[in-house]
Amino acid sequence: MAENLIISKGSKEEKYTTLYNQIVALTEGESDIIANMANISAMIHETFGFWWTGFYRVCNDPGVPKGILVLGPFQGPLACSRIPYGRGVCGTAWAKGETIIVPDVDKFPGHIACSSASKSEIVVPIFDRNDNITAVLDIDSEELDKFDDCDRIWLEKIVSLL
Ligand code: SME
Repeated sequence: MAENLIISKGSKEEKYTTLYNQIVALTEGESDIIANMANISAMIHETFGFWWTGFYRVCNDPGVPKGILVLGPFQGPLACSRIPYGRGVCGTAWAKGETIIVPDVDKFPGHIACSSASKSEIVVPIFDRNDNITAVLDIDSEELDKFDDCDRIWLEKIVSLL
């Protein structure tokens, strides 16, 4: 596996291309989903310098009420541990079954503010082979309007490797 990730040059498209190839190489040799989520969040975070990059997993553990996303591997400041179905951007992406881009979090009704520094956000659902959502990838930026269709396309491609 690659020991270092150095992707500092190029357009966003070029960075995603290099990043994607590195993630393919990394996930090919590792079957553990937590290990892969941990490295993927670190690689995305380091490449683009986002404010927060991480996963929330649909929790099916006994003793945990149904319909809860639980915090998974992430990079950045501490975040809320649990998000109910349909709540916030993460819970809404889960309920709708589609990627949500929020250019200005203050204008998204019900946005859950884990940090006041976060200004824009993208949440990408992760599907299993039966088309059930098992987790979401959540990325926050300190800049308004940071995410576009280029991010959506590449991030959907990246999470399909999980
Ligand atoms: N803003 C998210 C909550 C998670 S944090 O941003 C890490 C939401 O509204 O679902």
